[in-house]
Amino acid sequence: MKLALRTAARLVLVALAGVLVAGAVAAAPAQASDPGTNVVGGTRAALGEFPWMVRLSMGCGGSLVHPQVVLTAAHCVSGTGNNTSITATLGVVDLQDSTAIKVNSTYVLQAPGYNGTGKDWALIKLASPVNNVPLATLATDGSNDNGTFNIMGWGAASEGGAQQRYLLKAQVPFISDATCKAAGGSYSGLVDAEEICAGLTQGGVDTCQGDSGGPMTKTVNGTQIQVGIVSWGEGCARPGKPGVYSQVSGMYTNIKAGLDQLTGTVPPGGCGKSFTNGTDVNIPDNTTVTSTVTASGCSGAASGSSKVEVHIVHTYIGDLIVTLIAPDGSRYVLHNRAGGSADNINQTYTVNLSSETANGAWKLEVADKASADTGKIDTWTLTV
Ligand code: ARG
Repeated sequence: MKLALRTAARLVLVALAGVLVAGAVAAAPAQASDPGTNVVGGTRAALGEFPWMVRLSMGCGGSLVHPQVVLTAAHCVSGTGNNTSITATLGVVDLQDSTAIKVNSTYVLQAPGYNGTGKDWALIKLASPVNNVPLATLATDGSNDNGTFNIMGWGAASEGGAQQRYLLKAQVPFISDATCKAAGGSYSGLVDAEEICAGLTQGGVDTCQGDSGGPMTKTVNGTQIQVGIVSWGEGCARPGKPGVYSQVSGMYTNIKAGLDQLTGTVPPGGCGKSFTNGTDVNIPDNTTVTSTVTASGCSGAASGSSKVEVHIVHTYIGDLIVTLIAPDGSRYVLHNRAGGSADNINQTYTVNLSSETANGAWKLEVADKASADTGKIDTWTLTV
């Protein structure tokens, strides 16, 4: 949190300090028992003021959006997949508070399609649910993407400054996409639907390095709605260089879909890639044959709703047992002699492959269990 003091009377700029520019003073008072870290005129958040606020061990912020899931920035994580390396700290404003709740990650979902421009969100699944900590409420539409916002974090209190022990907060006004783009440089590439800007024209109040991933909220009728995720800015608190935040409302549908995936509505995992083998394989009578695809370029597990699209030409599908075999040999029966004398299988099967590693050689096995009718595997596609 960059909070710089600018008053005509005093030209003291205390680098360590979280100091709010006059007129941007946040509503709640600083904690009464100030442990004396020299926060001059600034505001330290009170315990419980931002109860869903999370500090992540890689040096980012986050918000608890489900008892077992933290929302953060895509640029704070390295990709999608199993990940036990992140520790989330919750329930405190002082990171050294011995009552802090600490929980490790199990899985990270980085926004699909994230490439450094827009889509700066990620979800971190925790090893166990955190109970009795209020959850952040996400903006589902753009109706609160205006006015004055709350920003908070343990990040640097000045450009290039140190990370903070105590949670700092400030308030910044909304800046339109047009004004934000006019700041030039990287700002001109702003992704309207995925990014929202905030800051003072004259600078002086902003988020900064280490605040990334943390929430930006709007207080509506006494409750906070998370409208943003700290993303980037040119330096910190520079005049004419707003803070850029991921626009929660514009990406809500995707964030919610990710949340559903992590919380079991759809089992986790998957890289969404498809692999096809279109080489015909004959299916002689009373014989078992296979066709292989090799999945690559995925990280971690296959999807809980993987698809197997099967096209088999055969004159009596009641003869056939069709099985998907995972790289580790696990077997998933797709078709087991159903269909009687019907011809051909042209069907897409949905299979929970979340316990399988996506990469590797997958086989479609077709066993013909009776005489007289034969056919071939025409083509099949696996989407993991
Ligand atoms: N990218 C920074 C981080 O990783 C956050 C920068 C926010 N900068 C700003 N001027 N608002 O912590």
